[in-house]
Amino acid sequence: MKEALAEYRNIFERQLQDVLAQYLSDIQPISEALVYAVSNGGKRIRPTLCYLGADFCRKDSEYVKNLAVGIEMIHSYSLVHDDMPCMDDDDLRRGKPTAHKVYGEGMAMLAGDALLNMAFEVMLGDYDFDKNTLGAMRYVAKMCGIKGMIGGQCLDLANESKENFGIKELTRLNRLKTSCLIRAALVGSAILCGADAQEVQALEIYAQNLGEIFQIVDDILDRTSTEQELGKQVKQDIANDKKSVVDILGIDGAKEYIKKLEDEAVKSISVYGQRAQKLIELCKFLSNRSN
Ligand code: IPE
Ligand code: IPE
Ligand code: MG
Ligand code: MG
Ligand code: MG
Repeated sequence: MKEALAEYRNIFERQLQDVLAQYLSDIQPISEALVYAVSNGGKRIRPTLCYLGADFCRKDSEYVKNLAVGIEMIHSYSLVHDDMPCMDDDDLRRGKPTAHKVYGEGMAMLAGDALLNMAFEVMLGDYDFDKNTLGAMRYVAKMCGIKGMIGGQCLDLANESKENFGIKELTRLNRLKTSCLIRAALVGSAILCGADAQEVQALEIYAQNLGEIFQIVDDILDRTSTEQELGKQVKQDIANDKKSVVDILGIDGAKEYIKKLEDEAVKSISVYGQRAQKLIELCKFLSNRSN
């Protein structure tokens, strides 16, 4: 899986450069800040999910190129804003100073805004407005908005210093702030590639569980890993007084919980046999990731 991920990352970096060359403007320093935020260092898990969604539907990575780039732009913008002093107040991201540290808060905010808008420009750009394209765009827009990632980030801010956050509240939060963008990548891609309703439903369950796993591992690594390994500051959740599943279940309990989510994710797509194999491997790999 490690090699496969490296290969997907290479495909993505090529696609990203291609798209940026077409869509950037000469206005500075925002263009530079935007490129800084979206370039290199990221694991590119969401573009990989776009490619695997296409693969599941027997299409190739080229077919979902604009979606993969658009989704990673949205993810990168969410990180720029997430790192700002008014949110998590982080100095390091993807092994480099955060965007607001380099370009200032105003420019970082605008670069984030520009990335979000460029994402939709790119995702809509080269496609004919057929039923699948529109369906995918509608889905992505919803997953990134108030009923999706932004809603989750809102609950996350509200989580600071709150005592009454239990597993139920954290599950809702994690599903919104992290699973929704993972769903946008995988299910958005499958919709674009013409998946039927049953396939969409199965992939949604898989992606929801994968997103929860991804966030809980992030929360564990925040406690147990190092700045060097993660390319971002650690112990930030404690610094920001944020409660996570780790506070409630402990590290070992959180790992057991991840196993349960993994079983759910695998179960949801295993009827698809060979077509689901790469997604199952990815889920197992991400459950045990160390960065
Ligand atoms: C970080 O996402 C934010 C979370 C949802 C936990 P990633 O861990 O995918 O960050 P990059 O893209 O690899 O930097
Ligand atoms: C971020 O979650 C999720 C987003 C939607 C941006 P975190 O705040 O835990 O992500 P990191 O740890 O800063 O990468
Ligand atoms: Mg955050
Ligand atoms: Mg953060
Ligand atoms: Mg985190």
